[in-house]
Amino acid sequence: IPVEAFDLVIFGGTGDLARRKILPGLFRRYCAGQMPDGARVIGAARSDMDAAGYKDMVADAIREFGGGRSCEDGTLDAFLDRLHYVAIDARGETGWSELTDLMRDSVQVRAYYFSVAPSLFGDLAERLHSHGLADDQSRIVVEKPFGRDLQTARALNASLAEHFDESQIYRIDHYLGKETVQNLMAVRFGNTLFEPLWNAQYVDHIQITVAETVGVGGRGEYYDKSGAMRDMVQNHLMQLLCLIAMEPPAKFDPGAVRDEKLKVIRALDKVEPHHIVRGQYAAGPDNPDFREAVGDARSKTESFVAMKVGISNWRWAGIPFYLRTGKRMSARSSEITVVFKARNHSIFEEDGEDHRNVLSIRLQPNEGITMKVTIKEPGPGGMRLVDVPLDMSFAEALGEDGGDPPDAYERLIMDVIRGNQTLFMRGDEVEAAWAWTDPIIDGWTARGDVPKPYDSGSNGPTDADQLLARDGRIWREVR
Ligand code: BG6
Repeated sequence: IPVEAFDLVIFGGTGDLARRKILPGLFRRYCAGQMPDGARVIGAARSDMDAAGYKDMVADAIREFGGGRSCEDGTLDAFLDRLHYVAIDARGETGWSELTDLMRDSVQVRAYYFSVAPSLFGDLAERLHSHGLADDQSRIVVEKPFGRDLQTARALNASLAEHFDESQIYRIDHYLGKETVQNLMAVRFGNTLFEPLWNAQYVDHIQITVAETVGVGGRGEYYDKSGAMRDMVQNHLMQLLCLIAMEPPAKFDPGAVRDEKLKVIRALDKVEPHHIVRGQYAAGPDNPDFREAVGDARSKTESFVAMKVGISNWRWAGIPFYLRTGKRMSARSSEITVVFKARNHSIFEEDGEDHRNVLSIRLQPNEGITMKVTIKEPGPGGMRLVDVPLDMSFAEALGEDGGDPPDAYERLIMDVIRGNQTLFMRGDEVEAAWAWTDPIIDGWTARGDVPKPYDSGSNGPTDADQLLARDGRIWREVR
């Protein structure tokens, strides 16, 4: 879908996110013909460099993080021609008049990406306003972490709201830009098959796993103050939970979708302490333990969380949602699994097997959907049942487009330009998510809770397995 010409100003334009995701993503959109004539990308950061230096930096970033997508020779130079750079100080005066000059005659869509620390969001919003750089058509894009609790999230929302209307604010949760996450909605609401069964009557339980093999890497300082609960559960897992559990919105539009997601968050039960397991990874053959990685020998921060969550509404009452995420797990694998109830009567001889339908929606890697169905075992051996996967790998089914979907950031940035907020978090959603998360974290702090150690390369502390075993269930294999 074509987009209008735009000016995208990236504050933090030399930072890690810009180099890894935003700029390579824009380049790929350029290659795909989605950057109309006249569209410009303006890096803005504190570093004192000129446009040529910035272009060199961006070219290096694209080579390193561009994912090697095909783009004909010469195209990179043509993309770099669209780039500008302004050395700017978010809190001082440096650079603002240059930016104003650059934007003076611009009549195209203006988007300002705040890829900076949240403590600068308010200053940037205020400066954009006071320098006349934003009008009521302009958009701002903000990154997580959006606060570290309800109070800070409210303060951030309030500082942005002083200068921008909610319809202009795009809060990124990059999980919403992932191809298969959107497919969750397509599968649920684009088929007649699933929705009638999508409730407490037919569903036994739902599992959401986001497993990573990486550790905290170079982000130890941030991560030690954050932990898996703030870093992953409050946002990414919460969004997945909302999409899987929400009522059908009347339309696929931002207001309707976000209203339904908000209702899910508000219907979440308070989580009992014995329904949560926290873990912290121990050293592996090639990696230090969590405490060494974050540089705090007594850190009580969790790198793993598993929890049992309930949703008190008509559709889901009594059905557990098991969520789990962690670093240094056995494989990089994100999967949502809907386990259906066993059939209520069997006409076949009992074979001791638990035949039931299981729908797995695989977010990454190898995006696809699998449905476990029961069939007759082939051969003359009588009516023996066997479970087989009905497999839909997007790569196989959709060819190149399915196997190489755009990165989440590419899609989300283009949605900003189009003015489509459906895949962005609304302020009230973020606040509701913190309102649910805060008491959990406060409880840990008050009790002096210490996460359980787990081996690097394992799938968390054994307590996480017991959490399900107590209910007679097991986690899906992380693969
Ligand atoms: C980020 C978290 O939001 O998501 C990281 O801060 C995490 O800690 C990352 O590694 C995971 O994203 P993805 O797209 O690699 O699954």
